[in-house]
Amino acid sequence: MILCIDQVIPTELLSRVQATLADTAYRDGRETAGWHARTVKQNEQADGRQPEVIALREELTSALQRHPLFQMAARPRRMKPLMFSRYQEGMSYGNHVDDAVMATPEGAMRTDLSFTLFLNDPDSYEGGELLIDSTAGEQTYKLPAGALILYPSSTLHRVEPVTQGERLAAVGWAQSQVREPQQREILFDLDTTRRQEFEANGKTRTFDMLSKSLANLLRMWAEV
Ligand code: NI
Repeated sequence: MILCIDQVIPTELLSRVQATLADTAYRDGRETAGWHARTVKQNEQADGRQPEVIALREELTSALQRHPLFQMAARPRRMKPLMFSRYQEGMSYGNHVDDAVMATPEGAMRTDLSFTLFLNDPDSYEGGELLIDSTAGEQTYKLPAGALILYPSSTLHRVEPVTQGERLAAVGWAQSQVREPQQREILFDLDTTRRQEFEANGKTRTFDMLSKSLANLLRMWAEV
């Protein structure tokens, strides 16, 4: 399942992120890539040791964890601290698959889900689309500032060359409480359906039974 969420963070936070990223130090993106991804990765990343960058990525991570749709789709157990990336004219990130296991301050985590939070106006740069290889073919995403795409870490994907302007994004990874994508999708569908039932008819018997099934499937599948 690939999910796009518009306005995943408040406008005020987005403006602060943009202001900070306009005025911070960047490092070569290859420093954080695996040995084979390094050969195709050409971008810059905000220096993760700067206090303002650390503070922002923590704030963004907790904003995402509070977002109901993100929570329902990802069911994060652990999250890798976000990275802020910048692609200037001529930069791109060729086809790669994200590392299956990544180091975090709390120890190693498995990457089940990858996400990109677009941080600047898509009309302000040319190119820079995120391209995800799926069984249905290649799908291209270039979202508005403040929108997020959540996709399986198991996919081959790339960022097309930026031919004009610059592309700013935050990227991150989650280990889900539910490892299997199909199980996560069933839980997401059930949760969506019970919320629709609640909105339409209130706390009905149908809502209660859907909630019970959701809770009991999660009980079977969750690793916490
Ligand atoms: Ni990637």
